[in-house]
Amino acid sequence: MATRQQNQNQPQQGTPTTGHQWDNDEGYPLQEYNNPLPTWWLYTFYATIVYAVIYWVLYPAWPTINGFTKGVLGSSMYQELAAEEAAAKAARQGLEQQLATLSLEEAARDNRMLQFALSSGKAVFGDNCAPCHGTGGVGSQAKGFPVLVDDDWLYGGTLAAIQESIAKGRSGQMPAHLQAAGGSLSDDQINDLTQFTLSLSQRATDQVAAQRGQKLFGGEAGCNNCHGDQGKGSLRDTVAGQPIDHAVGAPNLTDKIWLHGGDVETIKASIAKGRNGQMPAWGGSAGRLSPLDIKAVTIYVHALGGGQKSR
Ligand code: HEC
Ligand code: HEC
Repeated sequence: MATRQQNQNQPQQGTPTTGHQWDNDEGYPLQEYNNPLPTWWLYTFYATIVYAVIYWVLYPAWPTINGFTKGVLGSSMYQELAAEEAAAKAARQGLEQQLATLSLEEAARDNRMLQFALSSGKAVFGDNCAPCHGTGGVGSQAKGFPVLVDDDWLYGGTLAAIQESIAKGRSGQMPAHLQAAGGSLSDDQINDLTQFTLSLSQRATDQVAAQRGQKLFGGEAGCNNCHGDQGKGSLRDTVAGQPIDHAVGAPNLTDKIWLHGGDVETIKASIAKGRNGQMPAWGGSAGRLSPLDIKAVTIYVHALGGGQKSR
């Protein structure tokens, strides 16, 4: 054991030492060698020093009392960022100006405008419309808010009709029909009308009541004045061959899409007590959206609903 330690602790012949030395237990000195650094390492080290000095001269580097050394190139990250922001803002302003001058149809046809309108319209929708219509217009848990991603429209799915809905707002007026709620019909008549409404989607459980309801629908109750002779809604249906004002917004009762609900109790409640869906107006002086925002969100909603060209 002792011999091995002795050998290890002998200084190598000709190796320079730093002069530092410790004595170990056996009394042999423990010395610190001073080997030269590898050449490649040394030159790399010098190169980094040269690089740093050049960098200090060219670029902003050292803090000073009233700021920092600016560097002879005058380069500044802040300036670069500001320039990039200004360029982005200018590009956006250009697109906004273009969108403002184009008609809805023209903007929706131009691919660059369409992309711009879709992205800003999506942001407007998320901030203002999603609470009622759901994220992306898919509808919300609460009833009475139309889904905007389907082809089923109350007031119309054209660009013009959608813009009117958004800018001016909508108010769907379904009157109460039960005597006790201010209407003129008895509870039995409401039941008959409920059965007839169910029969429009082939779900009536009492055909005789449904037939009585049919007479009321196109007669005394006058439901057809708004929902149409076929019950297909104010947008598509007619009364005695005449079109219905599209602003009425009476839903199609023959499909599977329901605004307030398609089960027996909900249909009965709709007929008995009436409904009044309110879509706020976003345009005009009191409105919360600029004409440009309304344009963009119109194009966005139009694209959600399958991009209808006619009602
Ligand atoms: C406070 C809730 C609410 C908010 C917020 C709201 N809406 Fe509506 N929206 C409604 C209701 C309710 C209707 C249906 C009106 C009716 O029943 O007659 C409607 C109807 C519509 C229609 C017509 C749909 C059809 O079938 O014809 C469009 C289009 C529409 N909203 C778009 C929007 C857009 C875009 C925004 C955001 C700028 C928005 N809404 C914000 C409640 C809202
Ligand atoms: C003055 C026009 C008008 C008349 C008359 C009218 N409705 Fe309506 N009805 C509407 C409107 C508008 C709505 C949508 C209400 C809303 O936007 O919230 C509606 C909604 C409904 C709904 C709910 C549909 C759904 O999708 O949830 C039912 C059911 C209904 N009506 C049945 C009838 C029946 C039956 C009669 C006749 C007794 C009748 N309506 C008379 C305009 C009318």
